[in-house]
Amino acid sequence: MSLLIYEVSAADVPLELLLLADPSEDKVRSYLFTSKCFVASRGGYVVGACVVRPLGEGAHELMSIAVQPAHQKTGCGTALLQWVIAFFHKSGASRIEVGTGTFGYQLAFYQRHGFRVTGIDRDFFVNHYPEPIFEDGIQLFDMLRLKLEYPGSAA
Ligand SMILES: CC(C)(COP(=O)(O)OP(=O)(O)OC[C@H]1O[C@@H](n2cnc3c(N)ncnc32)[C@H](O)[C@@H]1OP(=O)(O)O)[C@@H](O)C(=O)NCCC(=O)NCCS
Repeated sequence: MSLLIYEVSAADVPLELLLLADPSEDKVRSYLFTSKCFVASRGGYVVGACVVRPLGEGAHELMSIAVQPAHQKTGCGTALLQWVIAFFHKSGASRIEVGTGTFGYQLAFYQRHGFRVTGIDRDFFVNHYPEPIFEDGIQLFDMLRLKLEYPGSAA
């Protein structure tokens, strides 16, 4: 079944999907309504979502990307990320930034699409979340900052 990707209003993004990428509902709500939102749907059912916040001067930050667990590892996330990267390129953006954990498949996922590591936000996950976050049994402490620069931009 083919995948349809399109922009939607913040109110039309399933929150439970975004909570897969960011466990803090307060945090998600703090950026959702000032961001651009995109969904991927299959057979009329939303299976993926991506939220991108403007940072100013042509820069944007990918705040969240998530795919329903039953649809993960079927190419939805890749298709959605590629679509969003192309969308902002066409709109004249200079770069997209993203923050993620220091380990795990998500790091490879972004780098496969051209994101490069630019820095480390030490203790980010400890300082910004009330509860410890674990992935694969390992506690997340630091956030890696990555950036995708569009060719020709001076960002
Ligand atoms: C990250 C995410 C959006 C990727 O979406 P997806 O539809 O699974 O992605 P794809 O099917 O296009 O797969 C992309 C790659 O990630 C890998 N991958 C996806 N889920 C994985 C998992 N749970 N464990 C290990 N690898 C995984 C795939 O195997 C694939 O790698 P490959 O190209 O070497 O085969 C999705 O896994 C997700 O929603 N994860 C939970 C939320 C999250 O962590 N979001 C990112 C926050 S930083």
